[in-house]
Amino acid sequence: MKKQVGIEALAIAVPRRYVDIEELARARGVDPAKYTAGLGAKEMAVADPGEDAVALAASAAARLMRTHAVDPAKLGMLVVGTETGVDHSKPVASHVQGLLKLPSSMRVYDSQHACYGGTAGLMAAVEWIASGAAAGRSAMVICSDIARYGLNTPGEPTQGGGAVALLVSEQPDLLAVDVGLNGACSMDVYDFWRPIGRREAVVDGHYSIKCYTDALSGAYRNWRERALAHEVVRWGATMPGEQLARILYHVPFCKMARKAHTQLRLCDIEDAPNAPASTPEGREELAKSSASYNAQVASSLDLNARVGNVYTASLYLALAGLLNTEGAALAGQRVGLLSYGSGCASEFYSGVVGDKAAKRMATTNVEAVMAKRERVSVAEYERIMNLSYENPEPLPPQAGEFRLSEIRDHKRLYTQGP
Ligand code: HMG
Repeated sequence: MKKQVGIEALAIAVPRRYVDIEELARARGVDPAKYTAGLGAKEMAVADPGEDAVALAASAAARLMRTHAVDPAKLGMLVVGTETGVDHSKPVASHVQGLLKLPSSMRVYDSQHACYGGTAGLMAAVEWIASGAAAGRSAMVICSDIARYGLNTPGEPTQGGGAVALLVSEQPDLLAVDVGLNGACSMDVYDFWRPIGRREAVVDGHYSIKCYTDALSGAYRNWRERALAHEVVRWGATMPGEQLARILYHVPFCKMARKAHTQLRLCDIEDAPNAPASTPEGREELAKSSASYNAQVASSLDLNARVGNVYTASLYLALAGLLNTEGAALAGQRVGLLSYGSGCASEFYSGVVGDKAAKRMATTNVEAVMAKRERVSVAEYERIMNLSYENPEPLPPQAGEFRLSEIRDHKRLYTQGP
């Protein structure tokens, strides 16, 4: 039997504070419906300087190790996907290794390509295990980021922050990846970037949406070609994309998942051997189907709507949200996942939800993590956004979590809550 490889367990970490999105809209003189209905947001995580990409990554990793009793001696690889690292040279992953006192006999590095960096790390881990080179060892892949566009910018309501830590092994209790079916599409574009030394991203917002949907089309069609060849999906009474129980997308803001789904359906509708609609308008209409969006996408977006963009972690926050609510119902069913990183790179892959997904998610208890958050006013959010990143506020870390406490001689020092 072919070796199964994929995600065994996951854990999340989120900033301790958030702002209500309608309150933010009112403070900006914007109709709240633009942020809620127009972008699909509810709340937005507010990371303070003590909650940097290292602190969030280490907090998620520590929670994963603790709640799922991970044996450090069995880990052979630690990859952090991030685009908001803290040093030009020393990786976030090596901080995490030190903070968690992980063994030295590991491959440890960061992976960067905007929001795609986490998926790049995940695929390196999956293929390392599938190749046999891991020799029974597991990998930890952490996606950790803080999305920041700045006050009073069009991107402001799509900020956020957090981390998702994934345990990758030959026991894929959450998701067994269809190794080798992945479809990729990458292009050299300037849709979103962050020049060295800048804290805020620069973005050509509407163009970035087009780059995302163009790259999605390429990646999905490449995956579909392989999936058809392996008879994982087929053209028939339903289209290939409709044969996936759920489809998870990179979620810079929730409405983007809806746009992405329309584009994916359009790929199927345009390429179907028996055209389901004869005019461009008819094809558009069919692609926009609310029924399909509600059935295949909507249930994965709850956590994203409450946290905002988490760059590398957004897709995996959607996976956490989906399995948290539908882990039991989806056991044994195939789902599709679309990763997108500006610049740009995208990858579509698929996997089968494990029988133990619901049990694993109950242990992970993402709701308990979300419930610890505190709502702050827009004035407090603005104060936090204006804090110097050199002097983190002296707040005690929450139980089991890490915070940046000090930067001394250009070295970052972290403390862990009891
Ligand atoms: P904007 O230009 O201020 O907003 O910024 P808009 O005018 O496009 O309106 C947004 C939506 O709200 C529209 O819906 C409006 O119709 C609707 P749509 O037509 O698109 O379906 N709307 C309303 N709805 C109800 N009631 C109202 C109302 N008013 C308007 N009263 C934009 C939007 C997304 C461009 C901005 O927030 C931005 O620049 N965000 C950051 C960039 C981004 O997220 N890009 C996504 C694709 S790129 C990506 O995903 C990669 C990324 O994660 C980074 C990485 O890879 O590292 C960003």
